Amino acid sequence: MAWPAIIRYATVLVLLLLPPPPCATEDRLVPGKPLSPGATIVSDGGSFALGFFSPTNSTPAKLYLGIWYNDIPRLTVVWVANREIPVTNTTSSPPALSLTNASNLVLSDADGHVLWTTDVTGAAAGNATAVLMDTGNLVIWSPDGTNLWQSFDHPADTFLPGMRIRIRYETRAGKRLVSWKGPDDPSPGSFSFGGDPETFLQIFVWNATRPIWRSGPWTGDSFSVQVQFQMVISVIVNLNVVNTKKEIYITFSLSPGAAHTRYVLTDSGEYQLQTWNSASSAWAVLSEWTGGYCSRYGYCGPNGYCDNRWDGNPSTCKCLDGFAPANPEGWSSGRFSPGCRRKEALQCSDGFLALPGMKSPDKFVLVENRTFQECAAECTRNCSCVAYAYADLSTSRIKGDVTRCLVWTGELIDTEKIGVNAGSETLYLRIAGLDAALSLAWFKFKENPDDRPLMSSVVFTLENGSTTLPAPNNPGHYGQRSSDLEQIRDRTENSMNSLTLTNIEGR
Ligand SMILES: *[C@@H]1O[C@H](CO)[C@@H](O)[C@H](O)[C@H]1NC(C)=O
Ligand SMILES: *[C@@H]1O[C@H](CO)[C@@H](O)[C@H](O)[C@H]1NC(C)=O
Ligand SMILES: *[C@@H]1O[C@H](CO)[C@@H](O)[C@H](O)[C@H]1NC(C)=O
Ligand SMILES: *[C@@H]1O[C@H](CO)[C@@H](O)[C@H](O)[C@H]1NC(C)=O
Ligand SMILES: *[C@@H]1O[C@H](CO)[C@@H](O)[C@H](O)[C@H]1NC(C)=O
Ligand SMILES: *[C@@H]1O[C@H](CO)[C@@H](O)[C@H](O)[C@H]1NC(C)=O
Ligand SMILES: *[C@@H]1O[C@H](CO)[C@@H](O)[C@H](O)[C@H]1NC(C)=O
Repeated sequence: MAWPAIIRYATVLVLLLLPPPPCATEDRLVPGKPLSPGATIVSDGGSFALGFFSPTNSTPAKLYLGIWYNDIPRLTVVWVANREIPVTNTTSSPPALSLTNASNLVLSDADGHVLWTTDVTGAAAGNATAVLMDTGNLVIWSPDGTNLWQSFDHPADTFLPGMRIRIRYETRAGKRLVSWKGPDDPSPGSFSFGGDPETFLQIFVWNATRPIWRSGPWTGDSFSVQVQFQMVISVIVNLNVVNTKKEIYITFSLSPGAAHTRYVLTDSGEYQLQTWNSASSAWAVLSEWTGGYCSRYGYCGPNGYCDNRWDGNPSTCKCLDGFAPANPEGWSSGRFSPGCRRKEALQCSDGFLALPGMKSPDKFVLVENRTFQECAAECTRNCSCVAYAYADLSTSRIKGDVTRCLVWTGELIDTEKIGVNAGSETLYLRIAGLDAALSLAWFKFKENPDDRPLMSSVVFTLENGSTTLPAPNNPGHYGQRSSDLEQIRDRTENSMNSLTLTNIEGR
């Protein structure tokens, strides 16, 4: 027998003699069996793993307890327990994660210092299990099946299908995504993403306490994105806003069999929708919401608006109708922050101009339980009211009052023209010299608030090579509607052959 054959034979034998990898299929932690560095817990379907990871190559290794995708070749962490306090990996005192008899998960070093704990109180002691679900949610279950704690309620920088980014009405408290400090540093960065605790109706990205991006008030549109790979739809993302008596939250789901898809708030403050492209072994960025240029929060100053262009011309700041630049010279050289001033003082008798396709400004007041006509009348008869916008939320999963009458009395901040995007609406702006009675009559006939698509969606076609779509200047609130699409397609096809965007519209 030739040597190489013997070696091969020996290798096969060795492989056969190896024991099966220990705990490889364990998806849970029970009291008395802690998890140590080097071992992992893998969810039932194999999608996620829980264990210790080290984002850098430092020695001794700084370890974090986290959850990551188990079945893709790139370490992508979706949740971190001890974000602020890494634990040092030494053989003499390795850290451990244990489930205590009091149903708490506790991360401690060998000296018994507690670095992180779930702090569940009042649970019946004993026999709890901590299970890593195939959704990426780590849940402590009591023996009677009660969910005592779950990692989905304590998000890091990643929003996964089934998670809820919520705000409670009573306390105005909500959970936010909080960015990493840097690509290798899971400690909390300065960017956060979450619902507006003032109005409950919009979403912000903040840089510390300053808003840098705003969704615009919710219009009742639902949202769906389709991702195609080689003509086959691989992912459909359905985003929903859900309102209960206690809270309002956003959540999303994926089509069955979809590739891993997530929203993530990056360490540079971008809120991205990413899907795993297995052909290129990389995350494809489908949409990006940034504080970039014109759509940065308040960039065009008070009473200015960002005119988003899809025709290849650059987006730019403009003054709302009836306003002129407060500092014309600065304005023409690109200094927009002083914003715009009213050209002519308003009279109580002035009427309203309809501006369709807008992201409505911030700092509104919600007037409850009004029809569209009552909303218009509310603003018309209140001399300090400068604008209003109305939406009917009855198509959504909102319970209770489904009217959404917004009025503005002060300066109009962070307005954008976003065209026929989902999330755009008609803003009614009081204009000096317009006859109130005439404009009232006009929009009664002209505007039917029910006449809007219930759903709009975007189809992305990803080909093998492409991992990042050229983000449109402003992806709008939730997606795009059709009439802008031809232009988007032209633009993207010119700049990048491997990509097509198409649009389908539902009703
Ligand atoms: C930590 O140390 C243990 C034991 O030395 C080792 O098995 C494990 O791979 C280390 N983990 C990391 C993430 O460095
Ligand atoms: C936890 O419960 C087990 C079994 O009831 C017991 O043997 C163990 O001592 C308990 N551990 C602690 C820290 O109380
Ligand atoms: C835990 O389960 C065992 C076996 O099912 C049972 O004997 C024991 O009483 C339980 N302990 C607690 C604290 O519920
Ligand atoms: C966030 O705020 C810091 C401190 O004010 C600033 O230096 C940085 O440029 C801001 N980043 C963004 C993206 O707004
Ligand atoms: C809404 O207004 C209608 C009539 O204006 C009134 O009958 C109804 O009770 C109001 N509903 C709420 C929840 O305030
Ligand atoms: C006008 O509207 C503002 C904002 O909603 C409100 O604070 C004010 O009381 C209203 N004034 C009148 C006279 O209704
Ligand atoms: C995609 O892959 C197919 C087959 O592997 C190949 O023929 C085609 O040229 C690739 N397309 C691009 C844009 O790379």
